[in-house]
Amino acid sequence: EQIEKNGYDHFMLKEIYEQPNVIKDTYRGRLHANEGIIKMAGVEDNLQKFLNAERILIIACGTSWHAGLVAEYILEEFTRIPVEVEYASEFRYRNPIIRPNDVVIAISQSGETADTLAAIKLAKEHGAFVFGVCNVVGSSISRETHAGAYTHAGPEIGVASTKAFTTQITVLTLIALRLAQAKGTMSKSDFHRHLQELELIPAKVQEALQTNEVAKAIAAVYKDAPNCLYLGRGYNFPVALEGALKLKEISYIHAEGYPAAEMKHGPIALIDEQMPVVVIAPKQEHYDKVVSNIQEIKSRSGKIIAVVTQGDEQVKALADHVIEVPYTIDALSPLLTTIPLQLLSYHIAVMRNCNVDQPRNLAKSVTVE
Ligand code: G6P
Repeated sequence: EQIEKNGYDHFMLKEIYEQPNVIKDTYRGRLHANEGIIKMAGVEDNLQKFLNAERILIIACGTSWHAGLVAEYILEEFTRIPVEVEYASEFRYRNPIIRPNDVVIAISQSGETADTLAAIKLAKEHGAFVFGVCNVVGSSISRETHAGAYTHAGPEIGVASTKAFTTQITVLTLIALRLAQAKGTMSKSDFHRHLQELELIPAKVQEALQTNEVAKAIAAVYKDAPNCLYLGRGYNFPVALEGALKLKEISYIHAEGYPAAEMKHGPIALIDEQMPVVVIAPKQEHYDKVVSNIQEIKSRSGKIIAVVTQGDEQVKALADHVIEVPYTIDALSPLLTTIPLQLLSYHIAVMRNCNVDQPRNLAKSVTVE
């Protein structure tokens, strides 16, 4: 096992550090930025089905569901196809409305999650075309779906999903870009810019990993907090959910993710000087709005840990701690902002002597409902 960990103390840390490479592995052969081409056999073979889609339904559980939420923002923005994201366990038990031109995308790292598998079978019974995004080759879900695209994250051992999440987002972004190109819903120049930016992501993730020491220092300050709030907007709202999930899964600290603007409808009541609030605030659309959310937290003495774009001075002046990640275009920012949140959870869990790779009560793959 020590050999498999490749010198890292835990599989989770190893897998966090693998992200630059596995993101590259995931787009290798598919993304041809210079030629302006995205090639994915599963998408090409079924392009007409995607283009005729009146709606895309995404079904998944856990972290994969969060990747689905990121994809909802990306797919709708790029392709203008309405997207709904469903928990597989809810979808399968409520006599879901599935119309002939609905395309279903099922996301699963393991490809074995019972609820997701059952939801796929149900969607198929209703005549839907089901596309799978799985990591494990030959898994039940990859076999049950009509077509699909694998993530190339390699084996993920840590129960808390890390590299599966970022590679799922990578695949779903490629799909969204290909559909946008085919539908003509994105300008040629925007399309090229996104392809080029996507190619820069592995190097930027590598840079984002350099926040490790900062994340560790922040972890030492907040490791005994009983609660933690995560806020984000737009593309980074699902990142807030995922950040909170990571923390609760492995450190057993109660954490909630919220859309930053919804804070005023509830969570703001929880804020006092004991409450750490992680705010994902990259320099992009909604930045000013997020800055005002930060001000609201500050005026209630909450402790602010902000994930910002490198060089941001405005948030630095307000926050108790900042974690800087490189700049990228809005839609790709979850791939960078996620990284320090993974590291923060990891270090807090280690400092609390938790079993990072095998947290209590959780399983890597949930094959029972
Ligand atoms: C379990 C795992 C999570 C995972 C979820 C969905 O809860 O602990 O890490 O996100 O199942 O699994 P899947 O394999 O379908 O992505």
